[in-house]
Amino acid sequence: MSDSVPAVEFKNVSKVFGNITVINNVSLVIPQKSFVTFLGPSGCGKTTLLRMIAGFYDCDAGEIFIKGRRVDPVPPYARNTAMVFQEYALFPHLSVFDNVAYGLNIQASEGRIKQSDIEPRVMNALELMQLNALRDRFPHQMSGGQQQRVAVARALVMNPDALLLDEPLSNLDAKLRESVRVELRQIQKKLQLTSIYVTHDQQEALSMSDMIVVMNKGVIRQVGSAHEIYYKPNSRFVADFIGTTNLIDVDLNGGAALYKDVPVPLEGAGIPQSGSASVSLRPESLRIGKEKVENSFNLEGTIRESMFLGEKTRYTVVDAYGKEWIVDSFDPGLTVFEGQVWLTATPDKPHLIVEE
Ligand SMILES: Nc1ncnc2c1ncn2[C@@H]1O[C@H](COP(=O)(O)OP(=O)(O)OP(=O)(O)O)[C@@H](O)[C@H]1O
Ligand SMILES: [Mg+2]
Repeated sequence: MSDSVPAVEFKNVSKVFGNITVINNVSLVIPQKSFVTFLGPSGCGKTTLLRMIAGFYDCDAGEIFIKGRRVDPVPPYARNTAMVFQEYALFPHLSVFDNVAYGLNIQASEGRIKQSDIEPRVMNALELMQLNALRDRFPHQMSGGQQQRVAVARALVMNPDALLLDEPLSNLDAKLRESVRVELRQIQKKLQLTSIYVTHDQQEALSMSDMIVVMNKGVIRQVGSAHEIYYKPNSRFVADFIGTTNLIDVDLNGGAALYKDVPVPLEGAGIPQSGSASVSLRPESLRIGKEKVENSFNLEGTIRESMFLGEKTRYTVVDAYGKEWIVDSFDPGLTVFEGQVWLTATPDKPHLIVEE
């Protein structure tokens, strides 16, 4: 099967619970071998969309394809997907080995694979997840992190067309979460396994994904790389949801943008001739200085607060219009300013958002 066929495709898919439309006419293409994240606030429909790929929920409208095959009429067991859940969902009475072997045992009993293939495949999955030493343990004899690795091994061993992960790390402590994150990504790359990952943690999404799908209220708001989503948000919602940003309203006039009376130099073509829009400026895209900078955004303000955060210092600056700006400085030589300062940004930094 050619790689150009999407691993998963949604065409105009909707899902209704009761009288609430939880997924609203979603179309999406997920390329093979990619690591894709569904990101959005609680209740926006991430889990629902993921479960529809596995077939745990039916579509109320639209079509779903896995590697070009239409699957929405196909029952879950006949779709080649594997799911990892937040709460692990291991079989408590089975050892690690038997948990991982479970799906393969079923396939062997149906004559779909050879019995003799099971052990090497399980051992391979245990090896990948560094679980060899734990193969005879039972779930209650393991930490949460270890149990989650078993759950991942149990999914990997099935060699799925898509590995589906629903907030798999949220029960782990912060440090472990970060190391399992790195490990998951390495394994995904090594196996070239299409992975679809649900999270509401934007750091997780930014750090792991080839492609991020930002959702809100059952619709997709933006699809793009981490860099695009972060620096080129297509809406105030996305700009605001991902990370910290300074959002201002601007008036457009003759291809130029004005914040109050202050020109906001912008790069790129296609700036509308008139109307109103927003500009997103990330805290690290602004500089604090004593002087204006030519051909840049220059805004006078007063430092209200500074917070030393180790690798950076975060300043709160108030402009003449009373707006608070968040500015991050990574310059250890920057002395804490008092009084009036200039906030500056070169024209490549402000990102214009025009919404209908
Ligand atoms: N089985 C169900 N019956 C009725 N409503 C449901 C059902 N499952 C989900 N919902 C509703 O559908 C909406 C989307 O839920 P979903 O679980 O997909 O959200 P989510 O984005 O995964 O949120 P979270 O980040 O909290 O896990 C919510 O309003 C939820 O209450
Ligand atoms: Mg969910």
